[in-house]
Amino acid sequence: MKHIHTYYSPNNLYNKIIDGLNEIGKDLFKVTLDDLQPVDEFHIRGDVATKELIKLSNFTPDMHILDVGCGVGGSTRRLSHETGCCVTGIDLSDEYIDAAERLTQLLNMQERVKFHAASALDLPFDCNVFDGAWSIQMNMNVEDKLGWLKEVYRVLKPGGRAVLYEVCGNKNTPVYFPVPWAQDSSMSFLLPPESFRDVITSAGFDIEVWNDKTDLAQKAFAQMTEPMGEPNLPELGVHLLVGNDILTKAYNLHRNLDDERVSLIETVAVKPNS
Ligand SMILES: C[S@@+](CC[C@H](N)C(=O)[O-])C[C@H]1O[C@@H](n2cnc3c(N)ncnc32)[C@H](O)[C@@H]1O
Repeated sequence: MKHIHTYYSPNNLYNKIIDGLNEIGKDLFKVTLDDLQPVDEFHIRGDVATKELIKLSNFTPDMHILDVGCGVGGSTRRLSHETGCCVTGIDLSDEYIDAAERLTQLLNMQERVKFHAASALDLPFDCNVFDGAWSIQMNMNVEDKLGWLKEVYRVLKPGGRAVLYEVCGNKNTPVYFPVPWAQDSSMSFLLPPESFRDVITSAGFDIEVWNDKTDLAQKAFAQMTEPMGEPNLPELGVHLLVGNDILTKAYNLHRNLDDERVSLIETVAVKPNS
């Protein structure tokens, strides 16, 4: 797991994001969720997907939700902002968690949005404490998917819903690397959708919703062309999170989607009441 932690550990991330905001002329006292979106929603279809997941979740203001693998917390903050619920995010990367906490303070959301550096395989919470959970594009880095889902199950209250938005693989075709979540195959653990579904139910969940969103992902990446020469990167973008080869990674994701080497699944899994 160390190399995964290293991959998601850029130096001085918060200050790089602040520099980016300054370069595009943002007043730091007036930064909004949408201003940060290019850098803090690190998943396919960004804030558009997050808003769809919020709708799907049915999470309400009285709830306390756990975001597992929250990154720098863009979707953690958006979930709290749009529903009014309290959200706690955890992530393996202490650099991401540091940026997540400081960005949350910048937006003055720290009352309802908290973060901890922790592994999804060893959640630092008691059993049956969260009303709901969500995890957005983390599973690709997790080899022990049953261990992760059993942890989510353990900390959820009975009746609690887990919203997952995850990249899956294909039984027969390997992935082109690098991709946004992995430099090479040693960091990427993809299951075909039907095997992923089996692991979710093996952890004890009932599947309530199962949507294949691959076609939307293909459309989102349809214009990607092979990058040539020095990359022309914006002031704010996910290259700050995982490096300047992001255009090659995005291009490979486009190829993987088009060749059906990867797929995109949105699901709601429920911890039964009894
Ligand atoms: C592609 S990013 C997605 C981040 C965030 N969910 C988002 O959508 O912006 C994957 C995240 O999973 C985290 N991660 C990977 N393995 C993890 C683990 N075992 N426990 C906790 N977080 C993990 C990484 O540190 C990274 O922040």
